[in-house]
This record gives sequence, structure tokens and C-alpha cells, in this order.
Amino acid sequence: MDRHFKKHFENYTQGQFFELVGHSEEIWKALEQSEFITPRVLGSSDGIIYYEYLDIPFRIDEVWKKDLDIDPVIFKKIGEMLLLIHNSSLDSLMHGDYVLHNIFLNSSEDLCLIDCHPPEVVGYDRSFLYGDGQIETYLFLLNLASSLGVKLALANIKSVRLAMLSFRRGYDSIGGLRPLVSAIIRFYKIRRASGYSDFNSLMHLLIGLFFIGVSRG
Ligand SMILES: Nc1ncnc2c1ncn2[C@@H]1O[C@H](COP(=O)(O)OP(=O)(O)O)[C@@H](O)[C@H]1O
Ligand SMILES: [Mg+2]
Repeated sequence: MDRHFKKHFENYTQGQFFELVGHSEEIWKALEQSEFITPRVLGSSDGIIYYEYLDIPFRIDEVWKKDLDIDPVIFKKIGEMLLLIHNSSLDSLMHGDYVLHNIFLNSSEDLCLIDCHPPEVVGYDRSFLYGDGQIETYLFLLNLASSLGVKLALANIKSVRLAMLSFRRGYDSIGGLRPLVSAIIRFYKIRRASGYSDFNSLMHLLIGLFFIGVSRG
């Protein structure tokens, strides 16, 4: 097998594991004809997926932390990449964990996307592999300030706002109260399951909502 990245999946039934493998293959197909890169599934067995190895030296949240004046086109493209996934098939394909720490630049500055399944702390949830893309889009926006770090985000409101506006320009259409509410619940659940306190989770949620508010229109 070519150089690969080996990922272990524990606490899934065999059926769920097979579904994850198929889903990873669909994500690859969704981006195959695009400028975006995601690792191909090379093989799988016994709770292990072998992904194509990608050389991904620059994680977007880290790049952004170091340079708050990062080119906003990057965020527009991050929006376009998500839209490609959501529009790719008839079965409502979603990424599952669309956050900045799963998006990278390679040395040619292509955007690379990895880790296409819900965080393992919240367990298997099919509705985040195939479901309402708007929920995933809101979840991405809710996470944006936390990815930068709330202190840095609040000290640089303009930069976060610009990132969100650029993302929305790329994603095109986002709206609806119902998916926002679902995203809020999901955000809170993931944060609590990741070990953060009620207070911390609530603060991050409110800050996320604040930025969604200031980036409207
Ligand atoms: N296909 C890949 N090629 C090279 N490195 C990878 C690949 N997938 C993941 N990685 C590296 O491993 C890290 C964790 O991978 P990820 O799939 O995001 O796991 P987790 O579920 O722990 O977030 C990434 O931040 C990246 O540095
Ligand atoms: Mg990850």
C-alpha cells in the first residue's frame, strides 16, 4: 500500500464502521473534480481506515492565529468546499466535523480537508453523515471564534466578521431558525462531551452567536 494515514475507530458496530468507510469514499468523490484535496480511502479492516497520506503542514486555525489579516479568499473557499459536499449527491452528504482544525494548506497552498466523521466523543450519529447541511454550516460558524480562541476573537472582531462574511460568500445560502437551533444543541453537546464545563460551553456558544449576529447581511 502507498504511504498511508491509519485511523482507528473504536466503539462502533461493524455496520456503523462500514458506513463510515463508505462515507469517507463519498467525501473523496465529492471533491474529486475540484481544486480541494481530501485523502482517498486506500483500504479498511477491523476498525481501521487507511487513508491516503497528505502532506499538510499548515492547519488553518494556526495560520489564522499567527496572521489575523489572512487572505479572506481562504474562508470563501472553505465555504465553497462545504457547499460542494452538501450539493454533491442526492443523499444529503455532510462532512461530520467541519471545523478549522480539520482544514489545512499544503505547501502549494491547496486547501486540504480531513477527519470526515462526527467527533468520537459524541459517538455514532448517522444524521451528521447524511442530513441537513444547514446545521453543519451553522455549526461551522458557531465554532469559528472558539477555533481562533475567544480572547483573540473578541480583540479582533473585524477579522472574525470578515472571515464569516467571506465564508458566507462562498457557501452562498445559509438561513433558517430551525437548523440554527439544531446547531446550537449540537455545539453544546460536543463541548460538554469534550470535557468543558456548562459555563465554558455556554460562553463559547454565546460568543459564537454574537459573531453570527454581527456577520449578518
Ligand atoms: N490523511 C492524512 N495524512 C496526513 N496526516 C493526517 C491525515 N489525516 C490526519 N492527519 C494528521 O493527524 C491529525 C489528527 O487527524 P484527525 O483525522 O483530525 O483525527 P482526530 O479525530 O483525532 O481529530 C491531523 O491534525 C493531521 O495532523
Ligand atoms: Mg480532527
